[in-house]
Amino acid sequence: MILCGHRGVASLAPENTLAGLQAAHRLGLEWVEIDVQLSKDDQVVVFHDEKVNRCTDGKGWLRQYDEDELGQLDAGGWFAPAFTGERIPKLQDYLALAATLGIKVNIELKLYPQDDAALLCRRVSEVITQQAFDTGSLLFSSFEPDCLRLMQTLQPDIARALLEERIPGDWQARLQRLDCTALHCHHRHLTRALAQEIKAAGYRLNCYTVNHLGKATTLAEWGVDMIFTDTPQHYLAAGWLPG
Ligand code: G3P
Ligand code: MG
Repeated sequence: MILCGHRGVASLAPENTLAGLQAAHRLGLEWVEIDVQLSKDDQVVVFHDEKVNRCTDGKGWLRQYDEDELGQLDAGGWFAPAFTGERIPKLQDYLALAATLGIKVNIELKLYPQDDAALLCRRVSEVITQQAFDTGSLLFSSFEPDCLRLMQTLQPDIARALLEERIPGDWQARLQRLDCTALHCHHRHLTRALAQEIKAAGYRLNCYTVNHLGKATTLAEWGVDMIFTDTPQHYLAAGWLPG
């Protein structure tokens, strides 16, 4: 089972930062997951929350800051003093470093209620195309089917995964409609029977956010392909391989 660093490696470095990507590299991870959104001037930035309060020294909605203003916020000091000066990365900088380090990236397209799915997807797609990033090293996921539908047209070569906290009864129809290769779900709502059904239907099955060794062991037994984890170092210390 693959260990995908959640938001980089969220227990070792401030989430969704280049420092987190470096931490993933030091652990030998093959995959990281990040969240992307648009700044006020429609630049793609790597950030999870709708507001900047929790993970920076700023206040208010991410969408009220343009790229330059976001670049001035401290995105590391909240985590630990050693990370003071860490910045909110632009997607192109994050992907460039990931390519250099040989790490694959699951880009979660984060869509909050006021956001424009088409604009987000177009901007993300432009970043990937302009920098000619290797499409085989990327995976899109989203809770928002519109984002996956848009990416199917904009970047057909990049694999897509549907994110569902609870797996809906019509999961297979949804995956088929969006031509997804994987289902991402919260581990709490997965059962052995459902895992068997999804795997038997030929899909990849990935679970978030698994920070407990016993739970991860169970999921591996059920055939789960990948877990998103804040604490990959704990699994590695227990003798697991990154992939
Ligand atoms: O992509 C898996 C996981 O990151 C989804 O939830 O809120 O951590 O982005 P969240
Ligand atoms: Mg995420």
